Amino acid sequence: MDLFDKLQGRPGPLGEFTSDGYGYYTYPKLEGPLGPKMEFDGKDVIVWSINDYLGVGSNDEVKAYDEEIAKEYSLSSPMGARLMTGNTSEHEKLEEELADFVHKPDAFLLNYGYQGIMSVIHALVDRNDFLIYDELSHACIVDGKQLAMAEKYVFKHNDIESFEKQLERAHRNARPNSSILVVTEGAFGMTGDLGILEEMIALKEKYPFRLLVDDAHGVGTMGKDGSGTGTHLGCHEGIDLYFGTFAKAFALIGAFVATEERVVEFLKANVRSQIFAKSVPMPIVKSARKRLEMIRNNPEWREKLWENTNMLRNGLREIGYNVLPAECPVTPVLTKGSTDLCQLIMRKLREEHGVFVSGVTYPVVPKGTVLIRLIPTAAHTKEHIQQTLDGFEAIKDFALGSVSVEAQKKMTA
Ligand SMILES: Cc1ncc(COP(=O)(O)O)c(C=O)c1O
Repeated sequence: MDLFDKLQGRPGPLGEFTSDGYGYYTYPKLEGPLGPKMEFDGKDVIVWSINDYLGVGSNDEVKAYDEEIAKEYSLSSPMGARLMTGNTSEHEKLEEELADFVHKPDAFLLNYGYQGIMSVIHALVDRNDFLIYDELSHACIVDGKQLAMAEKYVFKHNDIESFEKQLERAHRNARPNSSILVVTEGAFGMTGDLGILEEMIALKEKYPFRLLVDDAHGVGTMGKDGSGTGTHLGCHEGIDLYFGTFAKAFALIGAFVATEERVVEFLKANVRSQIFAKSVPMPIVKSARKRLEMIRNNPEWREKLWENTNMLRNGLREIGYNVLPAECPVTPVLTKGSTDLCQLIMRKLREEHGVFVSGVTYPVVPKGTVLIRLIPTAAHTKEHIQQTLDGFEAIKDFALGSVSVEAQKKMTA
């Protein structure tokens, strides 16, 4: 059978949505300058779907700096992988500054978070080793696991007993040269709960292992100084490899992993997604340094982020919404219903209230539930939040389930 013909028969779990709601529910086009207010479908909307947590992406000083740097370097330089021709002092300075920021001895820059962490996991373990990971890990960890040669064990999300069981199993099956790598997230991006890092780290004494934490949502936002979820929980030292991406609080592209110098040395020679791929362009590197400096110098951005998060959550709860008890700024609202309800909520908020949110249904969340995820940022204003709460108030009759979706559709047809 022709491969392309066969693909028509298996659209994949998201295929149905990408063809039906293309441009609206999937691949929507948010246009105009990045910020809490953008244009969607020709209308201004307040955006609650982008991870620009600290408002760095719409900061005027950052934007002016980007312009200057792009003029000076163009987007091409440097060419080649870092190992060959793509290394510069700026790349190395950024690594030093990142290591300092997250309180680790050294750091290694990655050109993309997703491929970077996959390749780091692949490099760290061999066929004698064990890889233990949380079942709700981000797709990049799951794909990293597929690449890894190690034996793989999964534990129930944030379940310490299940984790200990898998650790014990790995130790029981270990050979003399076996090692154990555990991978979890600092702040889980869909549900907003934190990894149970303290409890996990406490088990190191009984069952030695090394811990890699993907803190994509925590870097810059969590901890007093923004150094992440480990700092927030008071157990940062127990994280052996700390992964952060620029794709969220830095509003950029690229990522890094911070750890001991000897491990960074190993990664530089073994992470295939870096060795065989082009280096991060100079304007991105310079801009990452600038953004890092600004994140460090403006702790009030984190305060504003939390202020906005609390105002949004309290307001939603007062209306009657079920906001999951998230411990990072990710604000998940859970309600009962089908894909139809999820789409109706998104459509009503966008069309009638100028509020852009994203929602997910089964298989991302259990059947019969709808998760609307809001990402507050430091750039949102009180007016943005109030307009959003007014929108949620206006749709509550059907979004909270007291009116059926069918009835609501008829009412608004
Ligand atoms: C938990 C987590 N890890 C890794 C990534 C991938 O990072 P990047 O977008 O920098 O490739 C993401 C991005 O969405 C994420 O949420």
